[in-house]
Amino acid sequence: MIRPPEAVRWSADGSAVDIIDQTLLPATEQRILLRSAAEAETAIREMRVRGAPAIGIVAAFALAVEAVRLAGHEREGFATRWAAAAERLRAARPTAINLAWAVDRMREAARPLEDGPALVAERLRATADAILAEDRAMCQRIGEHALALVPEPQARVLTHCNAGALATGGIGTALAPLYLAAGAGRSLQVFASETRPLLQGSRLTAWELSRAGIAVTIVTDSVGAVLMREGSVDFVIVGADRIVANGDTANKVGTYGLAVLARHHGIPFYVAAPSSTVDAGTADGSAIPIEHRDADEVRRGFGLLTAPADAPVFAPAFDITPASLIDAIITERGIFRPPFTGLVTGTTRGGA
Ligand code: MRU
Repeated sequence: MIRPPEAVRWSADGSAVDIIDQTLLPATEQRILLRSAAEAETAIREMRVRGAPAIGIVAAFALAVEAVRLAGHEREGFATRWAAAAERLRAARPTAINLAWAVDRMREAARPLEDGPALVAERLRATADAILAEDRAMCQRIGEHALALVPEPQARVLTHCNAGALATGGIGTALAPLYLAAGAGRSLQVFASETRPLLQGSRLTAWELSRAGIAVTIVTDSVGAVLMREGSVDFVIVGADRIVANGDTANKVGTYGLAVLARHHGIPFYVAAPSSTVDAGTADGSAIPIEHRDADEVRRGFGLLTAPADAPVFAPAFDITPASLIDAIITERGIFRPPFTGLVTGTTRGGA
């Protein structure tokens, strides 16, 4: 199996965050360096890096870099500036809980900030490394568990947005079982829905799967119904930006519609995500904050005017799929089935 791309890593000299600029894919594979928390915040807002786990990892790395950058300040100035940078990074995007989770973990590691730059920076670097290593391991485990849900000897899969290596520190979440199945020589046909308006499906999922030699066919967002109706999809699998206590799941807008379609056609609908995506403190999906994107991403996507320049646009970036439409949630801890109580208590029900 080809090694999937590394979305986030340290720069060669270890002083900066090194990411693939995902806004340039698939035309250009170019890495950029983020040398401060502010640069990381901008990269996250501009979606140069995106995907729930990946933005959490970038925030963690950037806060370690920021501690070194602020090392010249006396203790109080260092503590105030670093805490403010953490607050701004945490707010860069609202829906994916992994971002807040990673920043909170870094804040915990930084305490007490009054220890001063050198000690704090050391603890932050170790914690950022741990967050990346854990995410990589979680992706692998998710893939191993979810592999049991992939039909043999061949499977036809529909996925939405990008929940692959580009969105994580490892082999992805929804794409993890597909990488493992392909690596084991199984035959796969993946359908990647385009994912309007920023095209994470066609630009990113299709790019990383075809790079790995996995057969992938791009469909526009409205083709899922046709594929399901004609019996071309064995299961649907997506990632998640936040899964709350009852199993309601926020993911890229369009996911909810696919879940409704899958249920109508009797096709299993799966969500794959690490524990860092589970928000046990929120009871149901109605409380998940949904990011709305700039109208021009829809009106003039990638620079071409495709709508009246001032036409109003409704552009939620995510939607909520109710738990009742989800057949299984796969985390690194196993396969969880409705009513998903084990997601919070730690036990799997009816898992493979
Ligand atoms: O707006 P994006 O591209 O950050 O949205 C990403 C998604 O919705 C992914 O499906 C989700 O974060 C899961 S990533 C493993």
